[in-house]
Amino acid sequence: MLEIKKAAVIGSGVMGSGIAAHLANCGIPSLLLDVEMPNLERITRTSPAHLYDSDDIRLVTPGLLDANLKKLSECDWVIEVIVEKTDVKQSLYKKIEPYLKKGAWVSSNTSGLSVNTLAQGWGADQRERFCVTHFFNPPRYLHLIEVVAGQETDPAGFKDMANFLEQRLGKGVVFAKDTPNFIANRIGVFHILDIFHQMQEKHWSVSVVDKVMGPPTGHPKSAVFRTADLVGLDTLALVAKTSQNARDEASARLQSPAYLDKMIAQGMLGGKTKQGFYKKDPATKEIFEINLQTLSYQPQQKFRADSLGAVREMTDIAEKIRTVVLADDEAGKIAWPIMSAALTYAANRIPEIADSVVEVDRAMRWGFNWEMGPFEMWDALGVKTVAERLKKEGRPIPDLVQAVIEKGEGKFYRETRGIREYFDAGKQKYVPVVYPKEVLFLKSKKDQKKVLETNAGASLVDLDDGVFCLEFHSKMNAIDADIIGMLHKGLDRTESEGRGLVIYNDGANFSVGANLMLILLTAQQKDWAQIDQIAREFQGALQRMRFSKKPVVAAPFQLALGGGCEICLGADTVLAHAETYMGLVEVGVGLIPAGGGCKNMILNWEEILTDQHLPKDKIWFSPSDGGVFPKVQKAFESIAMAKVATSAKEAKKLGYCTKADGFVINREFLLYKAKEAALHLAKNYQPPKPRDNITLPGNGGKMALFNGIADFKLKGLITPHDETIAKILAHILTGGDMPNMHVTTEQHLLDLEREAFLKLCGMEASQARMQQMLMTGKPLRN
Ligand code: NAI
Repeated sequence: MLEIKKAAVIGSGVMGSGIAAHLANCGIPSLLLDVEMPNLERITRTSPAHLYDSDDIRLVTPGLLDANLKKLSECDWVIEVIVEKTDVKQSLYKKIEPYLKKGAWVSSNTSGLSVNTLAQGWGADQRERFCVTHFFNPPRYLHLIEVVAGQETDPAGFKDMANFLEQRLGKGVVFAKDTPNFIANRIGVFHILDIFHQMQEKHWSVSVVDKVMGPPTGHPKSAVFRTADLVGLDTLALVAKTSQNARDEASARLQSPAYLDKMIAQGMLGGKTKQGFYKKDPATKEIFEINLQTLSYQPQQKFRADSLGAVREMTDIAEKIRTVVLADDEAGKIAWPIMSAALTYAANRIPEIADSVVEVDRAMRWGFNWEMGPFEMWDALGVKTVAERLKKEGRPIPDLVQAVIEKGEGKFYRETRGIREYFDAGKQKYVPVVYPKEVLFLKSKKDQKKVLETNAGASLVDLDDGVFCLEFHSKMNAIDADIIGMLHKGLDRTESEGRGLVIYNDGANFSVGANLMLILLTAQQKDWAQIDQIAREFQGALQRMRFSKKPVVAAPFQLALGGGCEICLGADTVLAHAETYMGLVEVGVGLIPAGGGCKNMILNWEEILTDQHLPKDKIWFSPSDGGVFPKVQKAFESIAMAKVATSAKEAKKLGYCTKADGFVINREFLLYKAKEAALHLAKNYQPPKPRDNITLPGNGGKMALFNGIADFKLKGLITPHDETIAKILAHILTGGDMPNMHVTTEQHLLDLEREAFLKLCGMEASQARMQQMLMTGKPLRN
């Protein structure tokens, strides 16, 4: 693999800043150079955050380009991220080439200019080590990177570069050809511009189209017009101009409609000028939509359609898309002409922009956040169904579609014994989709009939080599009795015949926490014995997991909240995706963690502080465990403030993870790496012993925490019920009613957790918090 010890990013605008920050996320130092001094402070303040951990900004060294040319000789890779103009980019290349390190790679972040034309800016030798590496905005969050080689790019080196981007930067690499706007922007911009034209022809309203072309049809929440406002209408028009250079059958569609030119001329550019397709009234916060005839703003139109109502309860994305796009209602009348145009356009682009449908589908999923790529959508709708309807409407059927119907099985993808294959346009037959070796799909294991046990909330899947996977699949992956039951089964099997257990799933989130509805209903029925039993079972299962004879690896991603976080705390090792938002948020719903979360946070902080502790530092009360109070205080802070880490890296700072825990940058590699971690741990595995020597501060510590709580109250930072919960939490973490510093056991802390949980469940204010969260998804501050 290419070894990039240091990089240079030239251009510190929107993209350059994000790229330098992402390099820092991955531990790669960089120079960030521009004609004006780059502003690091701004980079640390962007929202959403560019950095996993704002301290990592130290890996980015800002500077003026002309003053730092010589420093380029320290860099193994120089990425150019300046204005989208061929001549300006080429003159920059001429300027920096004499200063480059021998053998260094250079790339351009262009959104769609020709790599071969840009290459002319380099000398013949450097052209071999030049390509396009097109990140999407924002670079930390969008998985896609399109890579494009020029005619003179060295193929082996280019492959190494792609590998580096995948392995070290965690990106989803798509190989594009040297055609205008490459893949994602070519399709995406056609789709948006085509909608702009259809709006005019059919007099649709902006907000109505967004209601249809958002999540109900597998598009992101920002749908069409909020996305356009985010990107900027001037930028969109510019990107569309590049697409026009392709002179394809849609050239006329890629011209800006008159209203778009007028909006741009009048400075209605979207978010950056605070008005575009939408405008927010600063006083009332109401969001108005533009009237495309008059270019004035009006209240958003109401819109109802049966199909939109029907998909609300659906979880299968293919079914959703089918329901709306093929609906015989007002939503279908919008979705069908839009989607059929986009799907036809995409099918006509093969092999022009990519050799395989797989590249196009990945580009749209990873770069535009579509839930399915266009060819996956063809399959979801039924290739034959769409083709027949096109024919009926007198519209041409793309050659590729004709081939799939005549030479294939009438679908772009098929699964054969867990192996995914696609219809190859050139070979006119199905060939396997190629994945990096680190990609392990739970779904394909399931398709290979490797599900060993299953119930409504969870399954146990055989990952081979003695590793089993506990998969949650309850609603929102909320933890319930089914999941706990399956955890026991997973541990039984792993202990008797396996080497390790991995906790992982394919949902949108790892787990949002315990099943709150069940707890609230039981509390309202005043069935305290049942609540005690629920907590006891959760604690029992997690303790069993902690001391299991075989290692357990939790592999969270996205949300791992409340009980989901407690599962991670109870596992031997956490191997999280970098984008994991972990936290003990029980306080927000009027509760405290009662699945060992309080106890395990104390143990985690003990470990972290012991590690940081220097023997020469005499301030600690008990050097062996980092002191008796600091660990309690740290655990208290994270739990009482329901702190959620904004990345896996930050989870270590908040005590949810410790040194032994790791993170994986590429989401697609998570399951494979978790399995590897389990196998690694399994060698000479020694489970931890139950702790009977936890030192806690007793009432002295409790008083110190109470003082802090009183201070917060005085400053008006906490509500009355926050205060009540905080005091109960302080009681648990300091060891209950113990006058002095003392030594206690894990079980004692678990008992305190459960007792407190029951007490809070019985309080009206806590029940009100639970109720509001369940009804509105927002916390109640009572
Ligand atoms: P930007 O306008 O935010 O930043 C460009 C930066 O380059 C500015 O800070 C400017 O001072 C600097 N610059 C201009 N000429 C320079 C020169 N000769 N030497 C050194 N620095 C110079 O632009 P943005 O949006 O960051 O785009 C940069 C590149 O990334 C373009 O090629 C664009 O097409 C591409 N891109 C942009 C995306 C976006 O969403 N904004 C997404 C993907 C690619």
